[in-house]
Amino acid sequence: MNDSLTAEQIIENFKKCSKDPVFFISNYIKVTHPKRGLVTFDLYPFQQRILKDFSSHRFNILRKFRQAGCTTLIAAFSLWLAMFNPYKTIAILSKGEAESTEIIERIKLMHSELPDWLKPKVLEDNKHTFKLENKSVIKSKASSKQAGRSIPGSLLILDEAAFIEHIDTIWAASYPIISTGGSVIALSTVNGIGNWFHKMYSEAIAKENNFNAIDITWKEHPEYFRHPEYQHLYDLMEKYDPPVNIDEWEKTTRANLSLKQWLQEYEANFLGTGETYIDGEILVQLKEEISNDYKIKYNNRMRIWEDPVPYHDYAIGVDCSIGRQRDYSAFHIIDLYNGKQVAEFYSNRTPINEFAKIICDEGRLYNLAYVLPERNTIGNNLIYFLKETYEYENLVMDDSREIGVQVTQKNRETMLADMEHTIRTGRIKIASERLIEELFTFVIDPDTGKIKADNNCHDDLIMALSLTVKVFNELRGNSQIEKDSVMDNAMSPEAIFTSKYSYTAKTATGGISKEDLQWLLKN
Ligand SMILES: Nc1ncnc2c1ncn2[C@@H]1O[C@H](COP(=O)(O)OP(=O)(O)OP(=O)(O)O)[C@@H](O)[C@H]1O
Ligand SMILES: [Mg+2]
Repeated sequence: MNDSLTAEQIIENFKKCSKDPVFFISNYIKVTHPKRGLVTFDLYPFQQRILKDFSSHRFNILRKFRQAGCTTLIAAFSLWLAMFNPYKTIAILSKGEAESTEIIERIKLMHSELPDWLKPKVLEDNKHTFKLENKSVIKSKASSKQAGRSIPGSLLILDEAAFIEHIDTIWAASYPIISTGGSVIALSTVNGIGNWFHKMYSEAIAKENNFNAIDITWKEHPEYFRHPEYQHLYDLMEKYDPPVNIDEWEKTTRANLSLKQWLQEYEANFLGTGETYIDGEILVQLKEEISNDYKIKYNNRMRIWEDPVPYHDYAIGVDCSIGRQRDYSAFHIIDLYNGKQVAEFYSNRTPINEFAKIICDEGRLYNLAYVLPERNTIGNNLIYFLKETYEYENLVMDDSREIGVQVTQKNRETMLADMEHTIRTGRIKIASERLIEELFTFVIDPDTGKIKADNNCHDDLIMALSLTVKVFNELRGNSQIEKDSVMDNAMSPEAIFTSKYSYTAKTATGGISKEDLQWLLKN
């Protein structure tokens, strides 16, 4: 729009700008396009749609594809909000320092390119802050653990939220400030599952939180997919060096990316790239199979899906903590006949002797279940209680004939790999939602390759599961779940154990030989 306007036109346009961010941005904001240089931010229809959602919802979560123009869009929207609304405080949080200063730079450029009659005076202008004469201020920060505490209350923008470190902490600290009347825009390319962005987005889709979910697809972007009304753009693109053929864009881009990258960066596919240890698609499927139909025991520390069934054998894998709220003590009970998780214990406030007593009581209740504790540090104390104080009769030993498993870096990975395989092949059935939730945040560190719980997350249920699965696999061998035709169906095991196992169990007082075990296994 040219600048030689009459006084009335200026007033009219100013009013229009103040009311409508789409009008303001499409007419007066300039951006640098990677190929075309400084151009008017002529908003694509999907960008206009996003802005309308920003205006009509207080909490927005936007799942984007790469290079959708979203950072530019939030920069322009922030400038609009600050210019036409006095005393607003807008905080833009980015994953790093470079990204955060770059956003302020974009906003400054947008401001400097405004026509004089529209351009507000600037009160403060530095690397992270841009304050206008109406006292509205835009602050751009890099993520840090403390960032949430100093978030002002008007609008919080989280750019590339799935990549922001400490976002759970930041969200917890900033929510009370925002919730009293501010608004939020969280936008991101997807980055696997289990993180804050995935959780919030999924809840928004399920209408379980206050966020309005916004979805855009790369096919809406006229520079990626042919839209007949943008022929002028395609003519221009063919003149680029090297020329871009719009009809070849998808093919060329896909050829330059791995399938995983394509699914993440452009298809916004949460499942395609999960860095979760267990494949994302499997986790989503497992989540559908969980059951919230359980009984509780021990003051809600134990969940029980199935009571013991006569003639069934059970395995209990135990992960032990000090019981002083830092991490959790956990065990699962799995039915060795059908692989079903029938119970789970989880607590960060159970003293070790009480924990041992519960294991013994439950082990005896579940037909003298095979109990495999971890033998590290505190685990030794637990074993002492299990063996000497409560004289549990069926503690599983390792190859060196010591009770429990000494978990080392090396065998931890093997145990986890076995657990993954056992889950993936459907040989065990997980009932616990919180165990699945833990698996959602159990990741492979992209830098070190280490398998670990994500920041601020736990893996106690997983470690207990890997121990339980160890017993399950050793006793079950590789046999598939099948019916034992010899026995009466009502009381028959659903699987036949093979004789291949490396554990021998023993009683606290004496011992059970391999032959005894063989008999126990009903083979
Ligand atoms: N409607 C438009 N007209 C012209 N240029 C645009 C338009 N929308 C976006 N751009 C340009 O596209 C480029 C990418 O934009 P931007 O960096 O905002 O995208 P993004 O979605 O944040 O990308 P990333 O995934 O890299 O974070 C920028 O150079 C921006 O100026
Ligand atoms: Mg961006």
